[in-house]
Amino acid sequence: MDDAIPASAVAPMPNNLEAFWMPFTANRQFKKNPRLFVDAEGMYYKTIEGREVLDGTAGLWCVNCGHKAPRIVKAIQEQAAGLDYSPPFQMGHPRAFDLAARLAAMLPGDLDHVFFTNSGSESVDTALKIALAYHNVTGNGTRTRLIGREKGYHGVGFGGISVGGMVMNRKFFGSLLTGVDHLPHTHNLEHNAYSRGQPEWGAHLADELERIVALHDASTIAAVIVEPFAGSAGVILPPKGYLQRLREICDKHGILLVFDEVITGFGRLGASFATEYFGVLPDIITTAKGLTSGAVPMGAVFVRKHIYDAFMKGPEEAIELFHGYTYSAHPLACAAAHAALDTYQEDGLFERAAAMAPYWEDAIHSLKGEPHVIDLRNLGLVGAIELEPIPGKPVKRAFDVFLNCYEHGAMIRTTGDILALTPPLIIEKTHIDRLIETIRSALRAVD
Ligand SMILES: Cc1ncc(COP(=O)(O)O)c(C=O)c1O
Repeated sequence: MDDAIPASAVAPMPNNLEAFWMPFTANRQFKKNPRLFVDAEGMYYKTIEGREVLDGTAGLWCVNCGHKAPRIVKAIQEQAAGLDYSPPFQMGHPRAFDLAARLAAMLPGDLDHVFFTNSGSESVDTALKIALAYHNVTGNGTRTRLIGREKGYHGVGFGGISVGGMVMNRKFFGSLLTGVDHLPHTHNLEHNAYSRGQPEWGAHLADELERIVALHDASTIAAVIVEPFAGSAGVILPPKGYLQRLREICDKHGILLVFDEVITGFGRLGASFATEYFGVLPDIITTAKGLTSGAVPMGAVFVRKHIYDAFMKGPEEAIELFHGYTYSAHPLACAAAHAALDTYQEDGLFERAAAMAPYWEDAIHSLKGEPHVIDLRNLGLVGAIELEPIPGKPVKRAFDVFLNCYEHGAMIRTTGDILALTPPLIIEKTHIDRLIETIRSALRAVD
């Protein structure tokens, strides 16, 4: 399956690269030397020049089933020829309800209700709005503050960048939401460099939430949102006991805990969700990406029973939550999601990821001592290689490694001077070897 991309996939270069304003991209640099994919299969992309590129990042942390997963392709094709669209407001279609029930059954505890969105950013803004509205409908309308974390990434909506903690994503966009505070991040090489799996040091950083509560008073705080591990900031893993401590403090003060599982959901850690992996139950979970294995845009927000129930009061004919999207639970997305869940289950991909994790860990840590490497991190099927920045030229070294890997047939991702790896869950040992050796050569080749 890996090498089966037909030669016919090679396509001509577009005449005009100017019109498309590319997201999160150095447009002028890219357009001078574009990197274009025209097809993909299994673990590989095919470039416009006809080269195969090993996918070390599951697209953008989303193609967990691998490319062109047969069940997903079939489901999308069939759905496109069936119900094309059904309004999600005051109307429905059966697969949306089946999908929500199926997802609710996958989630631990009483995370029983599902609100559909089209992206991670929409899931985050939906979750924050539900948290605020929940306190409102339960008579706690003074709880309006939202607490995020430094280095957090929660997409690009105004809610998400307000609780997020990545400076470049915030500084150009005005005053953002008011009433937001941030926990400190947990990145610390002095204490945690080269940890295998979760670091030992840093659980006490969750206690900063007590300081924030003392400053603002619990009666003003609606929710805390964190990624179980910070993905986009460069795979910053939660210290042992940290998430448990956050849960305890939120419980003590009646604050809702939101896990942003847009990356960690659907098998990344070798468990269905991070909540299961870490054994910590939040009140709300945001997801997207792996829900459809990236094949059709879709997101979902899971809420616990008491939250949903709090809205199901008052006259039956009244709309309970004034929120939703034209494409919430789009039929095509529902079809893709059902097929992705079938693939995860029938091919045992979460278990496969868990079984592959020790090999992955050893492979990542085999890079210790290579040029420029100052830290290696791993958990489940996620990994990070942190590099010493070139003095005065931050991000250049990592980007040069990225380019070198791409030229030599492997796609990785960079954030700052960190290389991030999040392969499809179908990855095999031979792919891991190839990915790591390509990175090793690149590290040795760059300045
Ligand atoms: C944790 C987290 N939340 C939200 C998002 C935003 O998702 P999207 O790009 O689908 O809006 C991302 C994307 O990487 C993410 O990693």
